[in-house]
Amino acid sequence: DAQSVLDTIGRQLTIADDQLIEITKAFVEEFQLGLNNYGKDLAMIPTFVPGVPNGTEKGTFLALDLGGTNLRVCEVVLNGDKTFTLSQKKFKVSETLKQGEASALFDYIAGSVDSFLTSHSKMDYNNGKGTGDAVYLGFTFSFPVEQTALAKGKILTWTKGYAAKNAIGNDVVQLLQDAFDRKHMHVKCIALVNDTVGTLLTRAYIAGGALIGAIFGTGTNGAYVEEISNLKKLAGTDAAKGEHMIINCEWGAFNNSRSHLPITPYDNTVDRLSINPKYQTFEKFISGMYLGEIVRLIAVSLVDAVPHPILFKGKSTAALNKHYGLDTSFMSQVEEAWIGKDHSEDAYELPPLGSDWDESKLNAKVVPKLQSIKQLVASTLEYKLEDVSLRDAAILRWLSELVANRSAVLSGVAVAAVLVQTGRGRLPEDTTTPLKAQNDTLGVGVDGSLVEHYPNYEKKMRHSVRVIVGEQVEKRVDIGLAKDGSGVGAALCALQALKQL
Ligand code: BG6
Ligand code: GLC
Repeated sequence: DAQSVLDTIGRQLTIADDQLIEITKAFVEEFQLGLNNYGKDLAMIPTFVPGVPNGTEKGTFLALDLGGTNLRVCEVVLNGDKTFTLSQKKFKVSETLKQGEASALFDYIAGSVDSFLTSHSKMDYNNGKGTGDAVYLGFTFSFPVEQTALAKGKILTWTKGYAAKNAIGNDVVQLLQDAFDRKHMHVKCIALVNDTVGTLLTRAYIAGGALIGAIFGTGTNGAYVEEISNLKKLAGTDAAKGEHMIINCEWGAFNNSRSHLPITPYDNTVDRLSINPKYQTFEKFISGMYLGEIVRLIAVSLVDAVPHPILFKGKSTAALNKHYGLDTSFMSQVEEAWIGKDHSEDAYELPPLGSDWDESKLNAKVVPKLQSIKQLVASTLEYKLEDVSLRDAAILRWLSELVANRSAVLSGVAVAAVLVQTGRGRLPEDTTTPLKAQNDTLGVGVDGSLVEHYPNYEKKMRHSVRVIVGEQVEKRVDIGLAKDGSGVGAALCALQALKQL
């Protein structure tokens, strides 16, 4: 019956604490494979950034940021006192550009920089360095790139719905530079960073230090400060001479072998119909690009349920049937309608959502909440209000919470895995490995639409951090939003690069 269908979905989407620990172990194993070898699922990309800033850095920089919800051109002023100012212009990247010829995409990017420079009074972005009238720029490119120097690296693969042709295998800085040159623009890209690296650098700049930078947005990924001695794949090269290097994990590709993640039929459908089947398995459990789609697929299965439909009396709409037709922001809005704008209201008990659903048993406080969710459901999925029942609203709320919880606890696993990898935390069964930096704050800079807007996302993440590395370590983890991190991070990298020019 309906209740047992819903119970099965609930079970499929809930991850037990001991599973979280097993997934963490697999994570750390994949970290090590990627640190030792090229070509592994977890790319563990050396970034050639030797460490994090401390907040005293100064200068004015031009930064470009591609790969999140928007393309952004930014002017960043680092004040040298842990503060900065940023002015920016956002541009939309159309699906046609994302999937057309790479040269067209990079022409559009160059055009956006041109438009920014034309509309802003030009500052000395080179801070007195450099020659002629060239403008130096830091580039945040949030896709996997095998870097070989601070401003050099080949695109390994596209993610997050991008599939531009004739890009993979090419140097992304060169692709950008060629587009600037085609437009006869005197702009030169001197630093290339991933958004996670930018976020880590920014958090360190603001807070005076940090260990991890992570994005939970359209995609998910993390970067952290690693000891060079652990980076076996760089052994014998010049880059291996330092002490530390920031590593871009590209953790969205964790468990592409699908050995540990609790895959449901809905995850299989998301993957099969995605632009990159069998890749970015972890990302497809976590990030904003996919969560709404998972909820939509479950909802469709409940509309189609036999012998009786469980949602919307079996009616569907074009919006419900549309691939990627339900945006993840819908889930945040539903959650907010449920627990209040300040996210503090109690999560209310609901009667069973199956066929025994009894509206008369609803708590009086819950009815107006379900009514507003019902309106949200109707307007987002284009149903007539009378076609959505309070029970439909309650089921969609429950589904959203399940899918978001799973995302958040798995995000916590990724953070905990880095803590274990860096010796800052250890697994429950390990009581002997000495912990490093036992009194330090463990700074984690985060950015992205999910962590910024999904109610209580951090709180849910912390659950798994606590389960995996224990409460004492979890309490020292300081998770802070590094908003606009990528622009500032690109500026901080450009500053490093200027010193080497
Ligand atoms: C932005 C950063 O703030 O967040 C981007 O500038 C980053 O570099 C993005 O990719 C991640 O969030 P979202 O939700 O836009 O993918
Ligand atoms: C995707 C990209 C990665 C980026 C992340 C967050 O996983 O491959 O480079 O950091 O999204 O934007």
